[in-house]
Amino acid sequence: MKRREFIQFGLVASSLSVVPRFLYASTDHNHPAPHPSPAPAPTEPQEFDIEIEMFARESEAQLLAGAKTKTWKYSGRVVKGPQERITVLDNSYLGPILKLKKGEKVRVIFKNELPEASIIHWHGLDVPHLADGHPHNAIRPNETYVYEFEVLNRAGTYWYHPHPHGRTGFQVFQGLAGLLIIEDSEEQSLKLPRGTQDIPIVIQDRRFDENNQFQHVQSPHDHMMGVMGNKLFINGSADREWKLNPGSYRLRILNGSNARTYNLKWSDGRKLTVIGVDGGLLEASVEYENIFFGPAERVELLVDIKETDLDLALQSAPFVAGRGQTFNILNIKPEGEAKEFVTTPNKLTVIEKLNPKEAANYESAKVFELIPTREHGWTIDGHPYEMGIVTEKETCKLGTTEIWQFENNFGMPHPIHIHGSPFQVLERISGQFSGCMDLGWKDVVLLMPGDKVKLIKQFKNFTGDFIYHCHNLEHEDMSMMRDFRVIL
Ligand code: C2O
Ligand code: CU
Ligand code: CU
Repeated sequence: MKRREFIQFGLVASSLSVVPRFLYASTDHNHPAPHPSPAPAPTEPQEFDIEIEMFARESEAQLLAGAKTKTWKYSGRVVKGPQERITVLDNSYLGPILKLKKGEKVRVIFKNELPEASIIHWHGLDVPHLADGHPHNAIRPNETYVYEFEVLNRAGTYWYHPHPHGRTGFQVFQGLAGLLIIEDSEEQSLKLPRGTQDIPIVIQDRRFDENNQFQHVQSPHDHMMGVMGNKLFINGSADREWKLNPGSYRLRILNGSNARTYNLKWSDGRKLTVIGVDGGLLEASVEYENIFFGPAERVELLVDIKETDLDLALQSAPFVAGRGQTFNILNIKPEGEAKEFVTTPNKLTVIEKLNPKEAANYESAKVFELIPTREHGWTIDGHPYEMGIVTEKETCKLGTTEIWQFENNFGMPHPIHIHGSPFQVLERISGQFSGCMDLGWKDVVLLMPGDKVKLIKQFKNFTGDFIYHCHNLEHEDMSMMRDFRVIL
């Protein structure tokens, strides 16, 4: 891939009206938590259906020709429960794929063997504060953190990654991330492609120095734009030419990039057949020409690969036609015996639509502005991240539903993620871009430049402090993150 083809975000820099005098706080990475709380000890003997040990360690991978790349990597081990719940990816810098079932009681024992503090967050899972991997609960090197939770989420494609304050972007860039697939009986009963025809695709870009080492933030510009690479990796591997038997496939795609938004399309102009998003299946499949796909979003596609699809590629198109070039993300070559072709079921699931009239603030959405300031760089409403401090707007009552509105009047995409139970998008007023994913249950909503999005969210199961932030991880680490508090 030529370097030129890969640069597709020229619209961004020119439209930033404020370049902050950026303060790069010097933090001691071993002591990032101002109020370290001990790992929760199990209070009463409880039966867990599955217990997993997770490790984060220094590692290395052969990603480019020549020197190996030093990485940080998750690994795991099933202590109790079926061994096949952990799948290790070959030749990958990513952590293993974890599989959990809805309703299961899970215990995870996380051992931090990194040279700095960290904590794992289960992205998209609705779990208690102490199991959420809030930066507040980051542990130091050689410490252990125990997570205990029940899987409340629907079947879907979720993921896990570190969440220490100020270091998330760096740690994810080092390789710390993995997929978390949740299954439930409803989804299992559907006639969808399974086994080798159900495939994860984690898209990440990386930048390297001249010694083949990952090169994270180098400049204030990197902080403002987020770190984007000039090399693409799929599932933590440089292999982007896949030989697949002809047949129907379910592609579970995660944008695991720190900062890059893609504009997904198929190379031959066929539509993208979407069956699922962040929080699992849609009611029925929906066709898209293109999908603006922000960091941390998931989309599940169905695709038929025929013997004749010799040049099929999943691509990213320029955001604005004519500005930048299309590049291939994954090339697919049909090869070997045909496997099963599956007709998409007409009905996939039922999604209970949240009723805006039942929101506590039906008349007046809480508005959050995505703005850069001189002092803090990218922020929400101009505030920096203040652990444990919330405004009245950031205080929500357990058992209620609220309408939140995010507004992006600047020139960069911001994928906004809210911890806790998933939300639904009520309304989007688009700037010049169409193709953002607003269907079904979401936990990330992408705001392209000029977009305003109204969403509805329940504060359903757990009290405590959770976070909402931009999932451009450099923005998150800068200031584009806040706590919200769910109270009784
Ligand atoms: Cu995927 Cu708060 O994160
Ligand atoms: Cu999350
Ligand atoms: Cu952002």
